[in-house]
Amino acid sequence: MDPASSSPRTENTSAKRSPDSFSFFRGFLKEPRQVGSIIPSSPILERRLSTFARVPSARRIVELGPGTGGTTRALLRHMTEDAALMSIEANPLFIDRLQQIDDPRLAVQHGDALQVRELLNQAEWNNADLVISGIPFSTMDQETGRKLIADIHSLLSPNGAFVAYQIRDRVCNLAKGSFGRPDKCTVWRNIPPLRIFRWEKTAPVKHRER
Ligand SMILES: C[S@@+](CC[C@H](N)C(=O)[O-])C[C@H]1O[C@@H](n2cnc3c(N)ncnc32)[C@H](O)[C@@H]1O
Repeated sequence: MDPASSSPRTENTSAKRSPDSFSFFRGFLKEPRQVGSIIPSSPILERRLSTFARVPSARRIVELGPGTGGTTRALLRHMTEDAALMSIEANPLFIDRLQQIDDPRLAVQHGDALQVRELLNQAEWNNADLVISGIPFSTMDQETGRKLIADIHSLLSPNGAFVAYQIRDRVCNLAKGSFGRPDKCTVWRNIPPLRIFRWEKTAPVKHRER
C-alpha cells in the first residue's frame, strides 16, 4: 500500500441512523442468512474497523457487504481525498440508501461479491490496496468461501490487506490456505460483539536453489 499523501476528508454523512436500522431489519427479514445480523454495526465498530484496517494508507478500497451504509460512511471519513471506494452489495433493499451517500469517491455496485474481479475490471482498477468484508462467511458454503477469498487474494496489490469483521471465526479456516494467520481484535460494544481479522498479502518466500 502506498502511504497516502493527503489527510482524511470530511464527507457528507447526512443519511440518518434510525431509518438505516429500519431498512436493515427489513433486509434481514427478507434474506436472513445473507444479511447475518438484525441491526447495522455500531459506530464504535465502524471506527475500530477503519483504524484496524489502516484505511488512510489505502488508495483503492473495496467494501463487500456495505448494508445500509454505516460502515461505508465510516470508511469515507477515514479515507484520504485521493482515495476511491467501491462498495458491492447484493441486497436490492439497501441500494437506494447507499446511493444517497453523496461522495464522489464512492461507487456503489449492486451485485455479488463473487463478481468482484469483473467489477474491478469494469472500473479499470488493476488491483485494490484493501478489501473490507462484512459478508457472513459462516453461512457461505465452503467452496464458495474459499473461491471468494482466493479471488480477493489475487486482486490485492503487493502488501495489500484483507479485513473481515465477523461474528464467528470460520473465515480464518477459509483464508488459511491463501493468507495464513490474521491479526485480530474483538469489539465488544456491538450487538453482537464482533471480531475483526486482518491479513496482509505478502510476497511468496523464494527458496534459494542449492
Ligand atoms: C452483517 S451485514 C453488514 C452490513 C454493514 N456493513 C454493517 O456493518 O452494518 C452483511 C452485508 O453483506 C451483504 N452480503 C451478504 N452476502 C453478500 C454477497 N455475496 N455479495 C454482496 N453482499 C453480500 C448483506 O446483504 C449485508 O448487507
